[in-house]
Amino acid sequence: MLKLSNANTMPLELEIGIPEASPALEQKVGEAKIETICSKDRDNSHVRSDRRPISDGINCLQIIPDCYIRPPSERPRLTEVVSSDFIPLVDLDNLNGSARHSVIRNIKHACQQYGFFQIVNHGVQETVIKRMLEVAREFFTMPAKYRQHLYSEDPSRVVRLSTSFNIQKEDVFNWRDFLRHHCYPLEDYIDYWPTKPSAYREVASKYCTEVRAMTLRLLDAISESLGLEPDFLNKALGKHGQHMAINYYPRCPNPELTYGLPSHTDPNALTVLLQDQVSGLQVLNNGTWIAVQPITNSYVVNIGDQLQVLSNGIYKSAIHRAIVNSSVSRISIPTFYCPSPDAVIEPASSLINPDNPVRYGKFTYEEYYQKFWSKTLDRKACLDYFAVNDANKSAKDETTCLDFNGFTLQHVTV
Ligand code: OGA
Ligand code: NI
Repeated sequence: MLKLSNANTMPLELEIGIPEASPALEQKVGEAKIETICSKDRDNSHVRSDRRPISDGINCLQIIPDCYIRPPSERPRLTEVVSSDFIPLVDLDNLNGSARHSVIRNIKHACQQYGFFQIVNHGVQETVIKRMLEVAREFFTMPAKYRQHLYSEDPSRVVRLSTSFNIQKEDVFNWRDFLRHHCYPLEDYIDYWPTKPSAYREVASKYCTEVRAMTLRLLDAISESLGLEPDFLNKALGKHGQHMAINYYPRCPNPELTYGLPSHTDPNALTVLLQDQVSGLQVLNNGTWIAVQPITNSYVVNIGDQLQVLSNGIYKSAIHRAIVNSSVSRISIPTFYCPSPDAVIEPASSLINPDNPVRYGKFTYEEYYQKFWSKTLDRKACLDYFAVNDANKSAKDETTCLDFNGFTLQHVTV
């Protein structure tokens, strides 16, 4: 066991089998030594004394710092994960023709059984996808000085670079950096976007405009799959909101000890995720983690908390996570499609009946977010705060909800 000392001479212990004479203490991260990344305060909790993205040099360490190491019971147990043949694949081309009804049936099945599906022939141009993945990678691999000024731990910022989930509240960190920004209405936000790489604004604006058009088609299809008017969900989201993130998961020396993102549901309505060719996304289904294998030019779509409410619980906000690996870095680019802050969210009245009584009360998306941000660790799923009676709450799953940074974080004990 290696003992490290921080500035307060409090010993830190790394309980992973590295030799006594390990050079870890001497490893440098830019100007910072390893012990300035993680230290412990008087209550023995980890604190980050040096808040910086992993991609600033922490990724060069040969072992992960101890504040990234999960206790044994919370580790990803990678050997128990199964592969992705189970995730439904939906061909959106068929939405336009006589097969529309069968596509909509597939969507319904996927949303009820998994809360997840992959889509192909979605209409977003291949070149636009390719360029987006390129500028995303360039953003995280260009010299850190060109992105440093975007670093923030304030989730209300319309553009920010950050790391982990919510570094101010967490005591174990996640092996992830991210750039997150608002996208719609484009003209309100584009002037805040990164100027480096120099093509960023042009590429990302094309990208998010095409993704929005595709998402609107999907929302129509999902509405229909619930037996609602095709424009029901479109209207329910008010003026609409669209955020996107670039998740950068550097190569990690100890992937079995940590997460890129631990299990969570997304708080928005619908997430449309683009990923490079490196797998890492996993979906929980009937207590088993399923690895989603990337398919070139496809998207992974998942139901978020707001669609769970609007569908009166018929569609489930899917629990998922991202794991990291020791050989290559990974990029994913989720688009979070959401209601506008003033949109009033409530279950569709036609989906309430004696067999499926009303499950959620009425709230504005802004209220939801405020609740979301006001909470720390507790034993309730975030959506349960808006459930109308105890019988409908998700007691079965025994979830713990930590919330942060635009996510509901659930440690699932099923
Ligand atoms: C997210 C997310 C998964 C991934 O950003 O909410 O779940 O594969 N990402 O990066
Ligand atoms: Ni997510």
